Amino acid sequence: MNRISIAIDGPAAAGKSTVAKIVANKLNYIYVDTGAMYRGLTFQALQKGIDLQEEVQLLELLKKTEILLKPSENGQRVLVNGRDVSSEIRGSEVTNHVSIVARHRMIREEMVRRQKNLAAEGGVVMDGRDIGTHVIPTAEVKIFLLASVEERAQRRHAENIEKGYPSDLETLKEEIAARDKLDSEREVAPLKKADDAVVIDTTSKSIDEVVESIMTLAMERI
Ligand code: C5P
Repeated sequence: MNRISIAIDGPAAAGKSTVAKIVANKLNYIYVDTGAMYRGLTFQALQKGIDLQEEVQLLELLKKTEILLKPSENGQRVLVNGRDVSSEIRGSEVTNHVSIVARHRMIREEMVRRQKNLAAEGGVVMDGRDIGTHVIPTAEVKIFLLASVEERAQRRHAENIEKGYPSDLETLKEEIAARDKLDSEREVAPLKKADDAVVIDTTSKSIDEVVESIMTLAMERI
């Protein structure tokens, strides 16, 4: 069987990682959450008190930072220089700063280099903002997931409540919209649908329905 690459892009909190994980499991492929890599670097930079506008300092830090994505029962653990930061990188401190770090050209070049290595053998489901356009432009399946800001904030809110985290719906809406704006308007590799990506609007769809659509596209190419 052909071990293909599946690229899943889309705006913040569109459910990319949820469906990507399930699809990867079904196909027995590697799942790579590229957002976690930018979050890992942002966490490290905040810890070290590095000015997030300082591209060269950030690049020096990235070169000294090993970011490992390890499969685990509930998806993926993220290790930054050996330290498990899986929950820290989901907190609001990192979430509200990560798009500043991800704007820098030199940071993106190094991240894309690492991501291309991870995808080199195929058999990969990778999610992010620029996977279909820059990281794996030759991916056999390219998906662009969409959902309204309202719907995405509602989902994140429900998730936070379920996990027992403090959550405010209006703040979430503002934060998601702000991150979308930064990600779509940046100069280098902005969030953009690849010409050959299939758009799936998840607004009124269940997770199973979205997974099913992606699996159908994948099975046609395997
Ligand atoms: O996917 P997630 O929301 O965890 O991504 C966090 C941030 O990392 C995004 O808002 C974006 O700024 C950045 N990112 C990126 N390119 C990717 C993945 C994430 O710029 N491929």
